[in-house]
Amino acid sequence: MNKPLRIALTKGRLEKDTISLFEKIGYDCTAVREKGRKLILPIEDGNIEVVLAKANDVITYVEHGVCDMGVVGKDTIMEMQGKFFELVDLGFGKCKFALATKKGSKFYGGYDVKTIATKYPNIARAHFESKGMDVEIVKIEGSVELAPLLELSDGIVDIVETGTTLKENGLEVIEDIVPVSARLIVNMVSMKLRQEEIEKLVSLIEANI
Ligand code: PRP
Repeated sequence: MNKPLRIALTKGRLEKDTISLFEKIGYDCTAVREKGRKLILPIEDGNIEVVLAKANDVITYVEHGVCDMGVVGKDTIMEMQGKFFELVDLGFGKCKFALATKKGSKFYGGYDVKTIATKYPNIARAHFESKGMDVEIVKIEGSVELAPLLELSDGIVDIVETGTTLKENGLEVIEDIVPVSARLIVNMVSMKLRQEEIEKLVSLIEANI
């Protein structure tokens, strides 16, 4: 048997949805379900090795070819870009990028340069560039909602899923930017060298999403 196909999974919610998908295909995911603190785990009947990583690192591992495939959000793909194939929209991990401000505050209009806090500076920059609008971007690592509350920024560009975090912090969406969901990505060399196995797995995935 060939060496296993190595798949980098974004830890957390996408990991759970991906494992459920593999189980729907019929693979035994016990090792991943009972992983403890282990980071590389087998799905033996699928001849797959799962690597658990942070979203940005999933892209790094796939781009460098140390993982053949990856499951990662479109948000991370858009922010990091990179060279790999994006093969399947997995349909889970659905949320959106949005521009939000403190409730009732006026963002558009006026001549002052607005400040935007975000974990996604490239996406934020591209959004305002497409409008021909000059903004100052401040990179924040987490809980971006704090920035307008602390008056560091006029608004945030962030992921909104249920809207609860915004609501509970007195913020509101004033503009939807782009929808986001989990994607299956593939290393370019693996796609050539292991085409048959990858295509087989992709068909199983597509039949089960
Ligand atoms: C994301 C995002 C929002 C929140 C939105 O943060 O940055 O803060 O989820 O979800 P909601 O619309 O369902 O409330 P995450 O939980 O990834 O944490 P982080 O901000 O620390 O990165």
